Amino acid sequence: MSDSPAAQVPALSLADEAKDPDAFAAALGGSFERYGFAVVSDHGVPADLIARAWAMTEAFFALPEETKRQYLVEGGGGARGYTPFKTEIAKGATHVDLKEFWHVGRELAKGHRFEGQMTPNVWPDQPEGFRDTFIELFAAFDTAGDRLLSAIARHLGLAPDWFDPAVKDGNSVLRLLHYPPIPADAPGVRAGAHEDINLITLLLGAEEAGLELLDKDGNWLAIKPPEGAMVVNVGDMLQRLTNHVLPSTTHRVVNPPPERRGHSRYSMPFFLHPAPDFLIETLPQTITAKNPDRYPTSITSHDYLYERLVEIGLIKK
Ligand code: OGA
Ligand code: NI
Repeated sequence: MSDSPAAQVPALSLADEAKDPDAFAAALGGSFERYGFAVVSDHGVPADLIARAWAMTEAFFALPEETKRQYLVEGGGGARGYTPFKTEIAKGATHVDLKEFWHVGRELAKGHRFEGQMTPNVWPDQPEGFRDTFIELFAAFDTAGDRLLSAIARHLGLAPDWFDPAVKDGNSVLRLLHYPPIPADAPGVRAGAHEDINLITLLLGAEEAGLELLDKDGNWLAIKPPEGAMVVNVGDMLQRLTNHVLPSTTHRVVNPPPERRGHSRYSMPFFLHPAPDFLIETLPQTITAKNPDRYPTSITSHDYLYERLVEIGLIKK
């Protein structure tokens, strides 16, 4: 059908997973193999919690610049707390991204064996309720992520609980993103073309236009999720683990058309990471004569993450 309009990433319902896990796994796996992306409704993260999180996000970024900068962790690679406007740069890009963000990590018990690799959270004094809201949201993303990973495992012919030990106490990061209004003459884009580093990303807020994926034919395809749906994409760690059977697809956030330039865009990606000591080692079932092992050398997720954060300017070597 060469004259059909541009393809759309189809919307799936995570509610189907409970009814027919194999069918859901096939649909999710199919969408990932085709686009590296999936659009998922009924993801189970409560709407009232999401509404509270948006209110907190907007209130935080509305604070004066010098207040926000109190939460910049010098030398911390942006892993926790505040990262100011124009810090991050996509690998190989010439302009910094037009965004500021806040990172929430996992709360670990004192003395936890990952304490050395997963730094403690910092929390702002205001808005009130910020910490509780995002600890709750982090847990809800964890739950949704576990269900999605179990479907991915089924699709790959692994036991449905295969990822459980890999992601237990994992180094996931919840990012609150603010893309401020864009002046007419702004150089650069909201987020330059990039791939995500982690296993999968679960993103809320993509209803506000701008997110595009680089399709296999070389064209940019706009992602238009239904209200409240989650956009889920494969990151480089899952691509590497699956020997590129599940592709980590390049994506970007373009600047809005003139009539939306005066508006901020907010989004909340949850970058689902394995535990720091998880060994990313090509899954044997993804190695074939036509698709030989692209990564004969395995690497821990901690070492892999460090290499990549240097590349994108968040860690200075
Ligand atoms: C990211 C990203 C997309 C968005 O933060 O890695 O791709 O819509 N964000 O904000
Ligand atoms: Ni991304």
